[in-house]
Amino acid sequence: MGDATGSRNSSAATASRATSRWSLQGMTALVTGGTRGIGHAVVEELAGLGASVHTCSRKEDELAECLKKWASLGFRVTGSVCDVSVREQRDRLIREVSSTFDGKLNILVNNAGTNVRKPTVEFSAEEFSLIMTTNLESAYHLCQLAHPLLKASGAGSIVFVSSIAGVVAINTGSIYAATKGAINQITKNLACEWAKDNIRINSVAPWYIKTSLVEHLLQDEVFLQRIVDRTPMKRVGEPEEVSSLVAYLCLPAASYITGQIISVDGGMTVNGGLYTSG
Ligand SMILES: NC(=O)c1ccc[n+]([C@@H]2O[C@H](COP(=O)([O-])OP(=O)(O)OC[C@H]3O[C@@H](n4cnc5c(N)ncnc54)[C@H](OP(=O)(O)O)[C@@H]3O)[C@@H](O)[C@H]2O)c1
Repeated sequence: MGDATGSRNSSAATASRATSRWSLQGMTALVTGGTRGIGHAVVEELAGLGASVHTCSRKEDELAECLKKWASLGFRVTGSVCDVSVREQRDRLIREVSSTFDGKLNILVNNAGTNVRKPTVEFSAEEFSLIMTTNLESAYHLCQLAHPLLKASGAGSIVFVSSIAGVVAINTGSIYAATKGAINQITKNLACEWAKDNIRINSVAPWYIKTSLVEHLLQDEVFLQRIVDRTPMKRVGEPEEVSSLVAYLCLPAASYITGQIISVDGGMTVNGGLYTSG
């Protein structure tokens, strides 16, 4: 009798440990740029796994629409209007996050990003600055601001949404590529610097994903065909194919993974070039 009870208790303990390894229940997350595209999918993925999520974007109406939809789905999501390219707005965002989540944050997903595509010699100083502040400075500064909250949580995780443009050369614009290359290096530095604080840092590096950022490009059939030809899986990706990896990297199940840059690219970056059609 005693043995049977012991064995039942131990199976229950094993099942509960297995469940908690694959759950974000009780955790808190900040996802920048959550109203569209990859960020939107990340908010839903994290909230679906049980996290309480705070997100931001620049457009108040679109944010309000999303918050309403998420509430109707039973997700715990709050939001702030914030332009992450502006320092004071980042300061305010983290103050709001801190007060919403009682000074503790488990997950920071630095997703918001932008691009201007043109030849290098044509970039203006303003365009250089816009891409640098939106993609690089904002993510770097949010890591600095969130560090005490992530540390206080006891188990922190940062995921950067980088790009394969920071891994290999593609004609997406050299400044965008430079910001993503810098993010990839920061991933490695912070992973080593903040391991002692129980904070893991990883990057996901997507190839073309169907979002509002690139929809105008993908509507060009010739351009789309060039992308597809270069991709072993012969298609572009969906936001949900990136958000699943982001979520995995935040789970307790990924507790020994840090400092990694993982491509989500249908095999594009391992294609030496001979597999171009068929
Ligand atoms: N789509 C791709 O093919 C692809 C490939 C590789 C990497 N990525 C990266 O993935 C990330 C997300 O891109 P996406 O394709 O999902 O873009 P998207 O469809 O344009 O969505 C971007 C989201 O970020 C918000 N956002 C943009 N600038 C912001 C700012 N300054 N402050 C606050 N929020 C801001 C947008 O809302 P508001 O405009 O209302 O602010 C929106 O919610 C970016 O870092 C991008 O570089 C995308």
